[in-house]
Amino acid sequence: MELRRFIRDIPDFPKPGIVFKDITPLLLDPAALNFAVESIAGYARPLEVDLVVAAEARGFILGAAVARELGVGFVPARKPGKLPAETVSAEYILEYGVDALEMHADALRDGARVLLHDDLLATGGTARALCELAEGAGAVVAGCAFLVELAFLGGREKLASYDVHTLIAYD
Ligand code: PRP
Ligand code: ADE
Repeated sequence: MELRRFIRDIPDFPKPGIVFKDITPLLLDPAALNFAVESIAGYARPLEVDLVVAAEARGFILGAAVARELGVGFVPARKPGKLPAETVSAEYILEYGVDALEMHADALRDGARVLLHDDLLATGGTARALCELAEGAGAVVAGCAFLVELAFLGGREKLASYDVHTLIAYD
């Protein structure tokens, strides 16, 4: 299935000069949604992961569905101050700002194999922060899967030491 036609460009959102890749048309379409979840799960299945780790907020949408498809658990990485128990934290720089992600300190056991997921790979800052959080907790990053890759922003280079899989890439 050609998933690209379900991604909509929104110019100047959230700031002038940014072309925002809106995934909501894909989420609206049951066949496209199913295809995207199954494609990411198909990539991840041979990696034999124990958990899916995904970034708030858009990473949660497919991340939890992929975890369900793989029959594994799901770990949310959230924006600061949202998680109730003890957290570990990593800062990162976005295409349009600075932010941080937190994970529950007890979410990952030593040696757990994880799939990192986010809806979109841009500069790679968010994904690197996820890797830092996972590895800091003693987990092994078995692979990183994204729905969309903005290849011109070079996120893949920031993840050079990881296995990276994307469904739709923009050059
Ligand atoms: C977006 C997107 C990724 C991140 C990618 O999240 O969902 O998480 O940017 O950018 P990067 O590769 O340059 O780090 P955003 O912070 O806009 O948050 P949201 O998912 O809560 O909308
Ligand atoms: N996250 C970072 N850059 C983005 C973009 N251009 N569109 C959607 N999400 C993004």
